Amino acid sequence: MTEQRHRVFSGARPTGRQHLGNYLGAIRNYVALQDDYDCIYCVVDLHALTTLSDTDKLRTWTYEMTLDWLAAGIDPDRGTILFVQSHVPQVVELHLLLSMVTPLGWLTRLPTFKEKVRQQPDNVNYGLVGYPVLMAADITLYKADTVPVGVDQAPHLEFTREIVRRFNRLFGDVLVEPQAKYTEFTKVLGIDGKQKMSKSLNNHIEIASPPEEIQGRVMQMMTDPARRYRSDPGHPEVCNVYSLHKFFSADEVGQIEHDCRNAGIGCVQCKRKLAQNIADYFAPFRERRAEWDAHPDDVWDVLADGARRASAIAEETITAVKDAIGLPERR
Ligand code: AMP
Ligand code: TRP
Repeated sequence: MTEQRHRVFSGARPTGRQHLGNYLGAIRNYVALQDDYDCIYCVVDLHALTTLSDTDKLRTWTYEMTLDWLAAGIDPDRGTILFVQSHVPQVVELHLLLSMVTPLGWLTRLPTFKEKVRQQPDNVNYGLVGYPVLMAADITLYKADTVPVGVDQAPHLEFTREIVRRFNRLFGDVLVEPQAKYTEFTKVLGIDGKQKMSKSLNNHIEIASPPEEIQGRVMQMMTDPARRYRSDPGHPEVCNVYSLHKFFSADEVGQIEHDCRNAGIGCVQCKRKLAQNIADYFAPFRERRAEWDAHPDDVWDVLADGARRASAIAEETITAVKDAIGLPERR
């Protein structure tokens, strides 16, 4: 008998076109995991509602993000399920059921919740407090045992594990307790060289950008602040341009480091090289993206098919959960 493969689940809020931080921190890993795991990736549109005021962007952003994921190599033909959270409404049901065994203090104590309260003091809605419960519902509904996320999500994963233990203690061994799988690129910095790359800070570089645009953004990048003149030696270890070279210029990174330390290469030239290598790296990606984008119906079909397959798993779980709790069956 073949051994059952482990199952991966991860989700990302539809924030539109993906940037280098998303790519290195999440998407690249999602793609690689397809070799060894059954993978389910989800556009978590309901989670986006906890912070979003302009919901009119949700459809376009879902489409743009899905295009980026498909073009990057998330591949339904290899069995991967790619779908939109709200298309499988059982998650809402499980969210409610889990909420009944969630002490409110567990939620309000979370550092991620406290940060959101600071960021949006005028919109501390009921759904926002329940954000981690919805995430626990995502993971457990699809019986995932492995969850690739950035370390910023560690408190949510820990919360999920606690809820699973509590639920199983109360109602029997029904839910699977997941493990987080952290990525090596935990924090890609933005072009400001200080803060985490993020669309909301406008310090990002979109992976779908044409080469001229990549060049434009890379040329604005902060480099080693101590290197004021071309003849000053540089310090690659504190330079964000260098940290991206490590990924995008693997063959020449030793030379770049040497030349920077000896002032053999200037920052402008160094950035031009990086822009070129990023643009080259994503050339096949841009082609595949354009091919998908020429057939938007195919993209929505992938999501519809994903939702169908996800529903089958969801239905099994939700039936088992209701049965375990003791809700009256419907005859
Ligand atoms: P978000 O767009 O913030 O919902 O993030 C989607 C995924 O990308 C999550 O798994 C994040 O951990 C990851 N991510 C976002 N920004 C960065 C960044 N600057 N560095 C590393 N990973 C990131
Ligand atoms: N909270 C995650 C983030 O902001 C997104 C997310 C929602 C998620 N549900 C999930 C991640 C389930 C992993 C598993 O990045």
